[in-house]
Amino acid sequence: MQKLKIRGGKPLRGSVRISGAKNAALPILCAAILSAETLTLKNVPQLNDIGTMLKLLKQMGISAHREGETVVLNAANLTNPAAPYELVKTMRASILALGPLLARFGKARVSLPGGCAIGARPVDLHIKGLEAMGATITIEGGDIHASVFKLKGAHIFMDIVTVTGTENLMMAATLADGTTVLENAAREPEVVDLAECLIKMGANISGHGSDVITVKGVASLHKAEYAVMPDRIETGTFLAAVTAIGGDVRVTNAAPRTLDVVIEKLREAGAVITSTDDEIHIVSNTRPKAVNLRTAPYPAFPTDMQAQFIALNTIAEGTAIVTETIFENRFMHVQELVRLGAKIDIEGNTAIVKGAQKLTGATVMATDLRASACLVIAGLVAEGETIIDRIYHLDRGYDHIEKKLVALGVDIERID
Ligand code: EPZ
Repeated sequence: MQKLKIRGGKPLRGSVRISGAKNAALPILCAAILSAETLTLKNVPQLNDIGTMLKLLKQMGISAHREGETVVLNAANLTNPAAPYELVKTMRASILALGPLLARFGKARVSLPGGCAIGARPVDLHIKGLEAMGATITIEGGDIHASVFKLKGAHIFMDIVTVTGTENLMMAATLADGTTVLENAAREPEVVDLAECLIKMGANISGHGSDVITVKGVASLHKAEYAVMPDRIETGTFLAAVTAIGGDVRVTNAAPRTLDVVIEKLREAGAVITSTDDEIHIVSNTRPKAVNLRTAPYPAFPTDMQAQFIALNTIAEGTAIVTETIFENRFMHVQELVRLGAKIDIEGNTAIVKGAQKLTGATVMATDLRASACLVIAGLVAEGETIIDRIYHLDRGYDHIEKKLVALGVDIERID
């Protein structure tokens, strides 16, 4: 099992180039299923979840090959409309194959994703929406069995804002007969990025980025080339790190406009942040101030940045109240931070973080993707040496993070 060893205490200096967004690339890779022509994707991040998704698509019979950050896919010879358990259990985003498979082939067998560390994460709204579009769906032997002669446009109201639920139904609707309206749709930038890619492939979509998305079905989608948006959570993670430990960093190939509320909170914590269209410059040379936050769907504060901000608050001046409203078990990182000397109490879905003067290095364990990022930030701040175990969680969602941190002057290495 690989670990990361970090010797903390040094401000970050230099520049870091942000990779493509994992949570945009994953649905966009599944969009290739919808067409018999080639989809060429640029700025695809090199991280394990993308590797898993490519494996999943290839075992369906899709040709997919990658050269650096470019991936070329072609689903003309898709023969096996299925997503097996052994792949789905390692990556729940495999559920994103369900809508496209039904739309293009009228049938799909996708393993029902189990829960994960941060919550039960049901997919009932994905299934309800596809049934509203005429699909017959049963759950047998742990698999979702879905079939339909031809999906029909429907008016669907999702009673919970779901990112991949919106993405699954939007993809399914592109080839359905008639018009689909998705109400209470997710507004995340990754949903918009997927819609823009589908439009380039010939889909007829409007309203993406708002909570009502309208899709007029078309007969088929065609070849396209598309560049995935920059990863706003990777960006936020580096910005939170600089705010926590101090430094002067230039963040390139970024999309500042997708991070408004996060940048606002970091300024409240004391960071000096300026940005252009695709670059962010952050300077921080004082102890951060505690910042309160409450996670909620975009454009509110993203749940994927909650753990990183708890790490920031552990050494901030003052006490912070952090409320998690999206997932029922997304405070697994708190107990690990307490091992480093953090002072945090949890009351239901709220963490009360009392700023400590310092953290002291120790061995800690990553429990999920963003918790791992939080422990990296804590390791940068802690005095002495911090060892982070089970960093396979980190590798799922960050593209060569330790290489990027070494380039910023961090004393960090991967050990077996
Ligand atoms: C996406 O997960 C992201 N993953 C998550 O990022 C992110 O945390 C989450 O959206 C929220 O922003 C990808 O995009 C691949 P949801 P998703 O459906 O779509 C409930 C990361 O770290 N719900 O928006 O699975 C659900 O239980 C990952 O990169 C239902 O009840 O999240 C949750 O409480 C972690 N029924 C809430 O909705 C459903 O059918 C939001 O979940 C679907 C969801």
